[in-house]
Amino acid sequence: MIAKMSRASDDQHDSSSAALVHETPPNIAASVKGISKSFKKTRVLEDVSFDVAEGESLVLLGPSGSGKTTVLRIIAGLEQPYTGRVILHGKDVTDLPARERGVGVIFQSYALFPRINKLLKLVQLEEHRKKYPWQLSGGQQQRVAIARTLAYKPQVLLFDEPFGALDAQTRVHLRREIRALLRQVKVPSVFITHDQEEALELGDRIAVLNNGHLEQIGTPDEVYNHPQTEFVATFLGAANLLLGVVTLGSIEIGTARVPATEETRKFRGGQSVKVVFRPEDVTLSKDAKLPGNCRRLANGIIEEINFVGAYERLNIRLDLTQRQPAQDQPPLYEVTINTPERMTGIPIIATRPKPEASASKFNVGDRVAVGLTAFSVLPNYTLVGGRVNRALEINR
Ligand SMILES: Nc1ncnc2c1ncn2[C@@H]1O[C@H](COP(=O)(O)OP(=O)(O)OP(=O)(O)O)[C@@H](O)[C@H]1O
Ligand SMILES: [Mg+2]
Repeated sequence: MIAKMSRASDDQHDSSSAALVHETPPNIAASVKGISKSFKKTRVLEDVSFDVAEGESLVLLGPSGSGKTTVLRIIAGLEQPYTGRVILHGKDVTDLPARERGVGVIFQSYALFPRINKLLKLVQLEEHRKKYPWQLSGGQQQRVAIARTLAYKPQVLLFDEPFGALDAQTRVHLRREIRALLRQVKVPSVFITHDQEEALELGDRIAVLNNGHLEQIGTPDEVYNHPQTEFVATFLGAANLLLGVVTLGSIEIGTARVPATEETRKFRGGQSVKVVFRPEDVTLSKDAKLPGNCRRLANGIIEEINFVGAYERLNIRLDLTQRQPAQDQPPLYEVTINTPERMTGIPIIATRPKPEASASKFNVGDRVAVGLTAFSVLPNYTLVGGRVNRALEINR
């Protein structure tokens, strides 16, 4: 009886503390809540919401014209949202002018003014303190711009593609410096880029923007390994994409049946899905034996092998159909590869790290068993009923 009573009071305690956690979000430095924006009659942002935690570096990633700069300008107060609020350190600043927001903005290029020794030291530029702006390299100018912005002790730092004008090597160097610097000063920051590598390296979290709409927000691992949309999957690196149908315990991809993953459970039987996997998630074997950590997909033929430095890239044509579609019908499967071309057919891309590539050599024309160590399953909303039926048909 006593045990029962104490459990009841535990329950009570649990539910009240859970409610409390819900009401007070942990150390949020900046929030954008339901931001929409139109220029003339064109909607450029649609209900964008996200939080930046204290000391966090959030990367806004998206293609050109997706609305990244507009989000930043709204946070900075240089642009008014059509709907939505901007909250900085618990204070609604939506109606405050830019200069009263305590936000530091670093743009692609910067006019430079007097500098401060302590900050110059922080950005490793002490020996350049007597130089004029035009005597500094692009990378040095950006370091000065950051030092100058920090001098105002901003509550939030905003970076709009600050490395856009720099060469690849300086970019990499400078972004590592900035990452270290942000860790040191612990100022929360929003960092814009359209470079996926930069996003993965700089972001504690990445928010992927597509056409004014926030597609996904998560850690680099979440957005790269568990993309929630096809756009996120293909924008963040190369992705193979195959159409499938969920059945009991497996996903049918043409004549292939891939054993279902935990993730597959949220789909009902007969539902049409997209199976997305990265080139590095493909395992190949010449003797039909695949390692235990991967799921068998199908057999394939190696069509092309390219040496790409640290790894080898292979084009493989999967054997997923025993029957060709009729002449006037579209192909059964579409594969998008992260290139400007959208190829039709069933080729996939695989990569192998150097040690593996040199341990077992493949040749063009080799027949291989293809397995997947990881893949994501996405709903296939765009597929019309006819296509689904045909995909099922070939398995009868
Ligand atoms: N002042 C403005 N007047 C009219 N349209 C605008 C204005 N500013 C931005 N736009 C439009 O809003 C959309 C989003 O622009 P934005 O500059 O936010 O994109 P972005 O993601 O920063 O692109 P980029 O990577 O090329 O810098 C674009 O279609 C752009 O043409
Ligand atoms: Mg921009």
